[in-house]
Amino acid sequence: MKKRDILVLLGGLIIVAILWMAPPETTKHIPKDDTHQKFYDMIKKDGPAGKKAAEKFCQDCHNPTQMPFPAEHPPKFRCTFCHKLDS
Ligand code: HEC
Ligand code: HEC
Repeated sequence: MKKRDILVLLGGLIIVAILWMAPPETTKHIPKDDTHQKFYDMIKKDGPAGKKAAEKFCQDCHNPTQMPFPAEHPPKFRCTFCHKLDS
C-alpha cells in the first residue's frame, strides 16, 4: 500500500470512530408540564418557526438570577437545538 492510501484509510477510521463515540442524546428534554405546555403548543403548531419564537421566552425564567444554569452549561444560542420536546 502507498503511504497516501494508508492515510486515507486512517482518516476514514477516525471519522467512523468519532461518529461511534458521539454521546447518545441524553440532554434533558423540556419538561411536559404546565410551565412549558405553551412552548409545546407553539412548536407543534409552527415547527421550526415555533421553536424560534419559543426560545425568546426561555431566559425569562432560566437566567442567572432566577434559575441559574449548571456551571458546565454549553453556549445557549438555541435552546431547542439541544433540549428536545418530550415526545
Ligand atoms: C415561566 C418560567 C419558565 C419558562 C418561560 C421556561 N421554563 Fe424551563 N423550567 C421552569 C421551571 C420552574 C422548571 C423546573 C420545574 C419544571 O420541571 O417545570 C423548568 C425546567 C426546565 C428544564 C428541565 C430541568 C430538569 O431538571 O429536568 C428544561 C430543560 C427547561 N426548563 C428548558 C426550558 C426551555 C428550553 C424553555 C423555552 C422554550 C423554558 N424552559 C422556558 C420554568 C420556565
Ligand atoms: C449546545 C446544547 C445546549 C443548548 C443550546 C442549551 N442547552 Fe441547556 N443544557 C445542555 C446540557 C448538555 C445540559 C446539562 C445537563 C443535561 O444533560 O440536561 C443542560 C442543562 C440545562 C438545564 C438544567 C437541567 C438540570 O439538570 O437541572 C436547563 C434548565 C437548561 N439547560 C436550559 C436551557 C435553556 C433555557 C437554553 C436556551 C437559552 C439552553 N438550555 C440551551 C445543553 C444545551
